[in-house]
Amino acid sequence: MLASTLELLETAQRNIYAIGAFNVYNLEGVRAVIGAAEANRSPAMLQLHPSALKYGGSPLVLLCLESARTASVPVSVHLDHSTSASAIEFALAAGMSSIMADGSHLPYEENLAFTREMTQFAHAQGAIVEAEIGRISGTEDGLSVSEKEAKMTDPTQAGEFVRQTQVDSLAVTIGNVHGEYRSEPRLDFDRLIRIRERVGHVLLVLHGASGLPAPMISKSIELGVCKFNVNTEVRQAYMTTIGSEACTAPKADLLPCMEESIAAMQDVITEKMKLFGSANKEHLHETPYATMLAAQRYRK
Ligand code: 13P
Repeated sequence: MLASTLELLETAQRNIYAIGAFNVYNLEGVRAVIGAAEANRSPAMLQLHPSALKYGGSPLVLLCLESARTASVPVSVHLDHSTSASAIEFALAAGMSSIMADGSHLPYEENLAFTREMTQFAHAQGAIVEAEIGRISGTEDGLSVSEKEAKMTDPTQAGEFVRQTQVDSLAVTIGNVHGEYRSEPRLDFDRLIRIRERVGHVLLVLHGASGLPAPMISKSIELGVCKFNVNTEVRQAYMTTIGSEACTAPKADLLPCMEESIAAMQDVITEKMKLFGSANKEHLHETPYATMLAAQRYRK
């Protein structure tokens, strides 16, 4: 069933687990997420990066929405990392219930103005907004400790930012990176505690969940994270399969190759749902009608 991101995340936060938000690019990715969610009776989020949106356009958005609608567990559809007002307008008009307004590349005041404007716009459509301060990078290689810290979320600034923009969820930078961790991941949990203390009840999100060990995932959930973004590990499973015998042998054929890639991605997603604690939590989520009312809370 098509769920609202607000309902998924609030329920997860209240019951101390997290929702996996998985980046998808095509039918195989969508089927892998829904397949894992249904097999594990887990809520889930399908999320589209702007590059996927540019590639797949409205057919891809409709694929996500229709797949969520026909799923037997709650699934929402989210726009990831959007720096553009027009992509946000497009996503909301298409029926997504949440977007990330990503102004983290901008100077603080400009990030504030962009996020505030996008939040007012999204709330008027009944959708919720994720934002970011601090800057999650692709890799931390070659940075000094003080350079790494400068990119992390400042707890006091986070509190101020949330109050001024009225965003619903905040992506924190506490040592997490997108893509592969080239050295042992280190998360600054003291910083996460201080952020939580200053941002009130805002929903906390951790990007770059690929490669984070289980104890770091559990600790993050314990300290208030209720959404993890996962992309790299799922993509790797897909890419490995299309380079394997199942897809490259002389007698290989397209459908079995696609099925194999779905199974490989589904295994990774299943493992994440178990780590995030969302497996077997379907029953805690509300009916689509209650979900719709939750989403309308913001409607003017
Ligand atoms: P990974 O690619 O590191 O899993 O991060 C995904 C992400 O944060 C998408 O916004």
